[in-house]
Amino acid sequence: MCGIAGYIGERENTSEILFNMLKHLEYRGYDSAGIACISDDVICVSKDQGKLSELEDKINSDIVSDVGIAHTRWATHGEPSHINAHPHTDCEENFCVVHNGIIENHMTLRDELEKKGHRFTSSTDTEVIPHLIEEFYEGDFEQAFVSAVKRLCGSFALAAVSLRDGDRILAARKESPLIIGLGEGENFIASDTPALIHHTRDIIILDDFNYAVVCRDSVEVKDFQSGECVKKKSHKIDWDVKQAEKEGFEHFMLKEIYEEPHAVKNALKAQDEVCEIASKLAGYGRIYFVACGTAYYAALAAKYLLERFGISSEAILGSEFRYSTINSIDKDCAVVAVSQSGETADTLVCAKECKMKGAYLAGIVNVAGSSLTRVVDDNIHIYAGPEIAVASTKAYIGQVTSLIMLSLCVARERDKIGEEYLREMLDNIHSVPAKIEKVLAGEEEIWKLAEKHSGKNIFFYIGRRQNYPTALEGALKIKEISYVHAEAYPAGELKHGPLALLEEGVPVIAIVPNDELSDKMESNVAEAEARGALVLRVSEEGDFRVPIVDPLLSPLLYITPLHLFAYYICIQRGLDPDKPRNLAKSVTVE
Ligand code: M6R
Repeated sequence: MCGIAGYIGERENTSEILFNMLKHLEYRGYDSAGIACISDDVICVSKDQGKLSELEDKINSDIVSDVGIAHTRWATHGEPSHINAHPHTDCEENFCVVHNGIIENHMTLRDELEKKGHRFTSSTDTEVIPHLIEEFYEGDFEQAFVSAVKRLCGSFALAAVSLRDGDRILAARKESPLIIGLGEGENFIASDTPALIHHTRDIIILDDFNYAVVCRDSVEVKDFQSGECVKKKSHKIDWDVKQAEKEGFEHFMLKEIYEEPHAVKNALKAQDEVCEIASKLAGYGRIYFVACGTAYYAALAAKYLLERFGISSEAILGSEFRYSTINSIDKDCAVVAVSQSGETADTLVCAKECKMKGAYLAGIVNVAGSSLTRVVDDNIHIYAGPEIAVASTKAYIGQVTSLIMLSLCVARERDKIGEEYLREMLDNIHSVPAKIEKVLAGEEEIWKLAEKHSGKNIFFYIGRRQNYPTALEGALKIKEISYVHAEAYPAGELKHGPLALLEEGVPVIAIVPNDELSDKMESNVAEAEARGALVLRVSEEGDFRVPIVDPLLSPLLYITPLHLFAYYICIQRGLDPDKPRNLAKSVTVE
């Protein structure tokens, strides 16, 4: 959802440093990009539409500069174009801004500024910011910046440089992530840690309403509402550079699918936190899960699992929760917010509102130090490591692992299952990574299936109970990276309408674990086959073969072949799985 970067220091190849930082933020948006560096009393802006790889010649120029800001965009206001690409400047090109988020009152501000003679060039919401700074400037960049920021409604992480004061970058945050990287004689700003790890491991995480004055040798953080200094602790980035690289894989998505066995192992590390949080959750009559996209499907799997143990809960999409479920939240509720990034606006706002209403709030989050981890009462870290591909894969596995453990522990706390069964199931989870490895070893078969079906323009995914979310996740993956229409249904629902869409050769992917519902699944498969559908089973003996596993753990194992299938279909259609059109990894706007 746009990535921003900034550098100030002793090195004079700022545009190159910034370009490389942007490469690590490109997952946040990739429809256009730009860099602004101060050099010889001019702000040199180079920007254009397109992915970074297409822009290297245009924006990675040889400017000698030791301060600059940069941006990679996911368009919200104004189509992707050269004009709308960031950075944006004021009329006289004295101030330059990059921004992630949405300025909700930009129309009002624009009208006001135009009446005062400001000339706008783009159709972005962001452009009001440099013009506001220009309007407020009376010789003090920081004062003008703060006055401008105070006029903004909406969400923002932004950075600004000025020709009038080239010794600092000013950066501010409200509801969009922003991190300062602390170096020796140099400092950085970035939307996320992957952009920083090649330069420093020491970071400061800005909170809402913070702004930072970032100079070569100092970083000062203040509150832009009160103007008071804010004491910030620095944190260490604890994952290594390799984890954010492709390490020989053709794409991040493939690498991350191959990391799925580790994702289970890593999530298991948080067993103590899980037990502790389960004991709190068990005390609440109403348990809600809130999440978006893939994280929502993980949450939905937990809801089904809890129901198996006779415990009721609800899994609600963040974008719906905020305008419906929130009305019934009070101190008697427990809410579990699930998010890979911990920055998804739809999930984050729900979490904040639930907390304000007195609910107990737990998180299941991958990115340490993200906004959600700082809002929740307790967090379960899934330790999946950086997930770079836009399509979430290993994080889903980590989330499902944590949620299965959590559901089992809540069931134990409520005396719905015995201690022995709990131990047995936890041991079973430990055996899952080796089973996922076996699925991955069958990649050739999955490639062949993808080859056979890559030309199809519709797919159905069906599953029941805890594998209905598996069907949803399989279908989402193929939609988002292969641009093929895919529908997921609870298998029993086919006959209530979607069956009308089935005809000769339409692929139906049926998730059939070996449990007491397998006969029912087979009846649904027969219904589909009777209409000419081509059924591909994910099962112990199926087209996508999976090893024997306790059916309650099947959501963990049965999704890997479908992740790989979606990846291979995408490759065979000649598309880029890491950067699907119209999408961004981290959706920090509502
Ligand atoms: O970072 P989050 O887990 O909160 O992200 C939620 C969704 O935006 C995300 O899962 C999205 O659906 C993925 N692109 C799915 O692959």
